[in-house]
Amino acid sequence: MNRTCLAIILAAGDSTRMKSSMSKVLHSIARRPMIGHVMEAIRKTGISSAALVVGRDAEEVAAAARIGGIEVTPHLQAERLGTGHAVLAAREEIAAGYDDILVTYGDVPLITDAPLRAARQGLADGADIVVIGFHTDKPAGYGRLLVKDGELIAIREEKDASDAERMVTWCNSGLMAINGRKALDLLDRIRNDNAKGEYYLTDLVEIARSLGGKVVAVDAPETEVAGCNNRVELAAIERLWQERRRNELMLSGVTMIAPETVFLAYDTVIGRDTVIEPNVFFGPKTVVETDAIIHSFSHIEGAHVGAGAEIGPFARLRPGADLAEDAKVGNFCEVKNSKIGKGTKVNHLTYIGDSTVGAGSNIGAGAITCNYDGVNKYETHIGEHAFIGSNTSLVAPVSIGDGAYIASGSVITKDVPANALALGRARQEMKLERATFIRERALAFKAAKKPKD
Ligand code: UD1
Ligand code: MG
Repeated sequence: MNRTCLAIILAAGDSTRMKSSMSKVLHSIARRPMIGHVMEAIRKTGISSAALVVGRDAEEVAAAARIGGIEVTPHLQAERLGTGHAVLAAREEIAAGYDDILVTYGDVPLITDAPLRAARQGLADGADIVVIGFHTDKPAGYGRLLVKDGELIAIREEKDASDAERMVTWCNSGLMAINGRKALDLLDRIRNDNAKGEYYLTDLVEIARSLGGKVVAVDAPETEVAGCNNRVELAAIERLWQERRRNELMLSGVTMIAPETVFLAYDTVIGRDTVIEPNVFFGPKTVVETDAIIHSFSHIEGAHVGAGAEIGPFARLRPGADLAEDAKVGNFCEVKNSKIGKGTKVNHLTYIGDSTVGAGSNIGAGAITCNYDGVNKYETHIGEHAFIGSNTSLVAPVSIGDGAYIASGSVITKDVPANALALGRARQEMKLERATFIRERALAFKAAKKPKD
């Protein structure tokens, strides 16, 4: 579409029911501020200019809204006088002249580009106003779409509606497209003569019609236009988002045994034929390649998991964990800011931090990289085909050469050359029959303590 478009995002609404020190639209869904999800739908609709109407935290909200190269300008709506008034907070930008104006809400984060595109298409087809409606069996609280002779004639707010009008189940999502060339003229005609004494954006339907303009509605699925006013609704929206994304991933070839227990971040990427077992959590910036398996109770954030790798159960991958193909990070292991080579095994109870481990190495149970001295962080480098014995402490900075062998229980503080064996532990001493002596002495002590009859 060659038409120019300004998106106006209303985010100056009442946040009090969130009981939060933070603006409502900064609360996260799938680890991304709500406003970011709205902007993603706007970006996918092909819109690159956005006016953000805010009541507080203008700079923070604008920063969260600046995604994918969209130019975002914040506008303060100091007094909250209604949705019509809110749109006019962006008057300057509307006046700059766009073909289309698209109004969305910052607290309706599940919206996708499909209804937004349909609304813009309505304008391209000659409408002055395109309302995005939805059908619901719980219409209470929403504006109702009133139809006469097959035409949308008005939106009636709940408080202004008659009993008959309240029976209508076709509702206003609040999202709307407006002919950009006529927008200011139409918006300036809105009055606040209604039950709430607010400037209703919804009045544009009647205003445009009275001037001979065409007004139509397009529909969005009810789930896409769910709004967020409190943290119960925040959790409900999270649930809907997770369900939608899990379904997309499964349909793209990912197996989830119990999808309802897998939590994805907004940008989680998972390749075909990867299997996710129950109870796995993904934080932001994670890519899992194909044919991997993520066992239960793993927590993965900022990680790259190569094809065919195996994680968990109970593994933690922190930011910068980068696992090559067929690597294995097993139970109760943590990897942070480290590269694990192809086919390398980190199987049990290990911490690898600020390290590189070459291909084909084996890190024994309980081995730890000691990367922190309480002030600074240091690096550990382990070569290819090295063997790090169980319960080894690698005190960084330290390097272990290719093919080196570290004896179990060692504390390694010096670099180990390739193919060397390093032992850094006390020598074993043997005292024959000494155990018998100790045991008998203990038994005698206990007997002596017993009270006499
Ligand atoms: C609005 C619609 C209603 C629709 C419903 C959908 C109007 C008059 N009514 O009603 O038809 O069914 O949304 O949820 O438009 N906002 C501002 N500044 C304001 C007022 C609102 O920025 O002065 C923002 C809010 O942050 C919110 C959105 O606009 O994102 C809607 O405001 P809200 O007060 O929730 O409108 P409703 O009364 O629910
Ligand atoms: Mg509302």
